[in-house]
Amino acid sequence: MAKSMKPFSSSLLVCPKCSSAVTSASEGMACRACSWSPEIIDGIVDLREDKTFDTLLDVNAYDEAHNIQAQTAALANVYERILREKGCASVANVFEIGAGSGNLTHGLLNSPFFCEIHTSDISLNFMKLLKKRVGAHSPDKLSCYLLNANNNPFRTASFDLVLGHSILHHLEQFETTLEESFRVTKPGGFCVFGEPVLDVHVFSGLIASIILHMEQARGTLDRPRRMALTALANRPQIKRDHLESDRTDLREIEDKFIFPINYMRELSSSIGFKSFDCTSFDSQLSLGEHTLRLIKHVFNQIKTNADFLSDYAFLFEKLTVNYGEPMKMNDITPFSYFVFSK
Ligand SMILES: C[S@@+](CC[C@H](N)C(=O)[O-])C[C@H]1O[C@@H](n2cnc3c(N)ncnc32)[C@H](O)[C@@H]1O
Repeated sequence: MAKSMKPFSSSLLVCPKCSSAVTSASEGMACRACSWSPEIIDGIVDLREDKTFDTLLDVNAYDEAHNIQAQTAALANVYERILREKGCASVANVFEIGAGSGNLTHGLLNSPFFCEIHTSDISLNFMKLLKKRVGAHSPDKLSCYLLNANNNPFRTASFDLVLGHSILHHLEQFETTLEESFRVTKPGGFCVFGEPVLDVHVFSGLIASIILHMEQARGTLDRPRRMALTALANRPQIKRDHLESDRTDLREIEDKFIFPINYMRELSSSIGFKSFDCTSFDSQLSLGEHTLRLIKHVFNQIKTNADFLSDYAFLFEKLTVNYGEPMKMNDITPFSYFVFSK
């Protein structure tokens, strides 16, 4: 008999009211001790404490703005490669946080490498989109939850793997998210997060400020280009300051942080992870090329022509020559993967 057809099975959840085990049955879930049971909305188990807390993102515009449809299989592949390099032949169960509209979840579900997937987000509208994207799956393969990643109701040491793609830098208290991820990961398991990395962004900031000064001196700078270059030049400092600031100021800012690798390494060891890596599989480009691509991306976002950057090709080339192999910077891209081993 399939697992999903059993009348009762013990779930991974702990009752938020009395901390007893929660059992799941085909008709729902309930606490064995106090009978608490979560609301289930279109097959999504609602475990939010605060139902008013929601994403600041525009859910309906998200997929198009982030080219989601084109990415899903390639993205799951990146996570699979990282884990294979860590010696995993497959992953029995995965907890995904901040899944959004299913960018990564869709790929995970289509890969035999990932067996049982527990996916989650804080936003009901995102989870509804996700359900639509991935279609129907048996509860053996996929469970969907509405929850705050900083307050998750799973039993300690429940998962082989905790994943989040482009999520930590959205969370005001991402340290708590990592502590919670550590808690629910089994000893020997992994937590992997794809995030923007400050160590590459500082180069785009530095080069943008050089170009800004040179263009100002030449008197050739129009307003959109000045704004784009100023934003790029200031961003690394602003994001670094966010890490130290009173975080409540960041509540209304969607993209709050860009993470320095060493900051994450120190956090990893203070939480108790056994080891930490920052890795990327998109490192065919040199550091100079990555930096140029990052600057062009911002010009593209504000629909401003960036052809004038070809006058500054020497800066990007110099960056590659000076900061190439010796610093191993080519292994790291503006968006890389933090791999925590428990
Ligand atoms: C940039 S999106 C990433 C979505 C998806 N992982 C992707 O790659 O497209 C960030 C996601 O984090 C979710 N989120 C924000 N704060 C959260 C929280 N405290 N707990 C859980 N999810 C949260 C948002 O609803 C959103 O879906």
